[in-house]
Amino acid sequence: MTSNAELLEIAATVARRAAAFALQRRRDGVEIAASKSSLSDIVTRADRETEKLIRDALAASRPRDGFLGEESGDSSSQSGLTWVVDPIDGTVNYFYGIPAWAVSIAVVEGDPDPSTWRALAGAVVNPVTKEVFTASAGGGARLNGERIHVTEGVDLPLALVGTGFGYDAEVRRRQASLVADLIGEVRDIRRIGAASLDLCAVAAGRLDGYFERGLNPWDHAAGGLIADEAGARVAGIGGGPADRRLLVAAAPGLFDQLHPRVEPFYAGWE
Ligand code: IPD
Ligand code: CA
Repeated sequence: MTSNAELLEIAATVARRAAAFALQRRRDGVEIAASKSSLSDIVTRADRETEKLIRDALAASRPRDGFLGEESGDSSSQSGLTWVVDPIDGTVNYFYGIPAWAVSIAVVEGDPDPSTWRALAGAVVNPVTKEVFTASAGGGARLNGERIHVTEGVDLPLALVGTGFGYDAEVRRRQASLVADLIGEVRDIRRIGAASLDLCAVAAGRLDGYFERGLNPWDHAAGGLIADEAGARVAGIGGGPADRRLLVAAAPGLFDQLHPRVEPFYAGWE
């Protein structure tokens, strides 16, 4: 059986290669390939090419594992493990040249469904800042090899809180209405534009907390494990596993203030 440390080595190696490739593509010039769920939900040619690079590399080294990626769909697992991949998280930042986008690769045990999976290892690489965030289950979280930890002892009024918005206009209007209230109750709000980096920011103490509704599995598979291993509580509706309906991440003390503040807003919202 492959250890979590070995799986992490594979995740980080492939993510670094993919990051270098996507960065080169960015330098060559970005081309929008299509719009997806709405006009603001874009996919570039580089998203697709980077996912292919990752998928091919994983298929070569881990042929029995499954794959779930944002751009090319899924293939089922014969080993019980599945790689959950966002080739470029923060595609809009990528398009504009804002240096907050990342390659995110995780490997999970069980069905690739956030409500039941167990994340074993994950890597999130920001190619522009050359930051590599990694974690394996039980092995702690690291930034460029150094252990990282969430901020402790920060109460909601002094918390810097990240969030994000979906692509659907009506959904994001509703999400913004919660933020319009919350912004008067916290230190400030950040909308960085890449969920994986938001979660890594919580892990590294650059944000005190983060919440978002509407995340896809590949947006939070790696970052959620990294935040968890850095000491965050990461959970969704009812304190159960995070899923599309809600993800909240923060040090346990702040989580106990932030989660009850945002959950009622989302609980009845399907
Ligand atoms: C998006 C980003 C964004 C978040 C959206 C995601 P993408 O991923 O992570 O920060 O608010 O919910 O869909 O489309 O750039 O891969
Ligand atoms: Ca993406």
